[in-house]
Amino acid sequence: MLNVEGLTKEFGGVVAVNDLSFEVREKQIKSIIGPNGAGKTTLFNLLTGLLPPSRGRISFLDTNICGLRPHVIARMGVSRSFQNVEIFDNMSILENVMLGRHCRTSCGAVSIALRRRKAVKEEALIREEALRQIEAVGLDADPHSSPAALPFGKRRLVEFARALATSPRLLLLDEPASGLNMRETEQVAQLIRKIRDSGVTVMLVEHDMSVVMEISDDVLVMDYGTKIAEGKPREVQKNREVIARYLGRSNEYAKNPKP
Ligand SMILES: Nc1ncnc2c1ncn2[C@@H]1O[C@H](COP(=O)(O)OP(=O)(O)OP(=O)(O)O)[C@@H](O)[C@H]1O
Ligand SMILES: [Mg+2]
Repeated sequence: MLNVEGLTKEFGGVVAVNDLSFEVREKQIKSIIGPNGAGKTTLFNLLTGLLPPSRGRISFLDTNICGLRPHVIARMGVSRSFQNVEIFDNMSILENVMLGRHCRTSCGAVSIALRRRKAVKEEALIREEALRQIEAVGLDADPHSSPAALPFGKRRLVEFARALATSPRLLLLDEPASGLNMRETEQVAQLIRKIRDSGVTVMLVEHDMSVVMEISDDVLVMDYGTKIAEGKPREVQKNREVIARYLGRSNEYAKNPKP
């Protein structure tokens, strides 16, 4: 589904992503792990068109998407959540989720003026789909209320619903479990599984190794922008270099892996 070759991003003297090559197969959960500053978020920014690569090739469904604008890539079916939850408190929960769907519709400002009836119909469909996704992520809050009062874990779910409202084929999640308690983390892990089972391919950046090791089909480990390992969770977890450079120093999980 996704094919990345020799992808490189330089910021001045910093090589944030360094000659990275990998593949993501359809309907798999592929996790990207590595220490702070390894280049994980930068990779997501490159894949979604937020940043232009310095070098390399990104092909999504056999189309070269390098240099395409973010909204074009989104329309092709690549959606994401952000490391810092980005929710607008001056809009309702429903409106926040509907924002996601707007990338799919044909009605811009001009066409809305010209073809009001079609626009109204589209708006109703967007609303319906947004409500469906709010339910699907298990967010038990009034969709017409402001998200301002929601606890952090539920704000995360609003972001999930918004990303899903674009009907993505590939969903990129940047640290979806950060700041969540154990129960919420487990819920998010189940939700990611459910999303994958519904046919969506997932790329996951996450520091919580219990989530990564439990739900990933495949794990890629980055350090200083470079791939240092890639494989099944069990293989990666035992990899000496990965333990030395990441798991061993930053995570209890390496010392106490689940059987
Ligand atoms: N817009 C930017 N301009 C300059 N340097 C940047 C920019 N974005 C990222 N960097 C640098 O690129 C490197 C990779 O950063 P990135 O945010 O991708 O890491 P990360 O793996 O997501 O880290 P974390 O786990 O802390 O989120 C870091 O050295 C960072 O300082
Ligand atoms: Mg990051």
